[in-house]
Amino acid sequence: MQKYPFIMRVFHWVLVIMFAAQFIFHNAISDAYDQIQRGVEVAFNPLVAGHVFGGLAILVLTLIRFGIRRKSVLPAYPEQGSALTKRASEIVHYGTYVLGIMLPVSGAVAWFGGVKAAADGHEMLKAVLLALVALHVAGALFHLVVHKNNIFKRMWF
Ligand code: HEM
Ligand code: HEM
Repeated sequence: MQKYPFIMRVFHWVLVIMFAAQFIFHNAISDAYDQIQRGVEVAFNPLVAGHVFGGLAILVLTLIRFGIRRKSVLPAYPEQGSALTKRASEIVHYGTYVLGIMLPVSGAVAWFGGVKAAADGHEMLKAVLLALVALHVAGALFHLVVHKNNIFKRMWF
């Protein structure tokens, strides 16, 4: 079985954890942003700094990951899939790269630039990412349970 290159597997799972942390610990920055919008001064909060720097780290790692991907030999799409599911998986994969760039950029414009429209965009993009990840995980499970192929194992260790 041809797996994804080791470095790509490491990037995949490290970024899964980092994306999850952005969702799990978002309350602090949402509250802080809300207070700033209302003109209230906010005290330093490590969870807010974590969201900002964690998000910027996601941006850098996504760009590096994309560079590595372009230079790597990737495993072929499994035979059981159709042209339609192949296209869908490509859209979801590229979509998550695009969101790994657009989410931190919109967040930074909202936070450092105080642009409310960017904060609204950030919230919308977050919902798009959730939808893509739901499709992505459903697809991975479908391959595992229905096709019983090795698609999960080639992204695992
Ligand atoms: C891929 C990286 C990121 C993800 C997945 C992410 C995710 C989230 C989520 C889930 C929320 C809560 C939205 C809601 O209340 O519905 C949020 C809010 C927020 N994030 Fe991020 N974020 C990321 C990067 C960043 C960065 C780099 C910054 C700033 C430099 C940032 C600034 C903000 C701000 C200001 C809010 C509050 C927006 C509001 O309440 O209107 N985010 N983020
Ligand atoms: C528990 C959650 C997840 C599971 C079980 C999972 C599983 C997988 C599997 C099995 C593959 C290989 C698919 C193939 O060979 O065609 C894959 C690839 C991929 N996954 Fe995930 N994934 C998860 C979460 C995520 C998240 C949160 C993101 C990004 C936000 C993501 C982005 C990608 C991308 C872009 C690829 C294509 C390979 C690459 O270009 O790096 N995955 N994932």
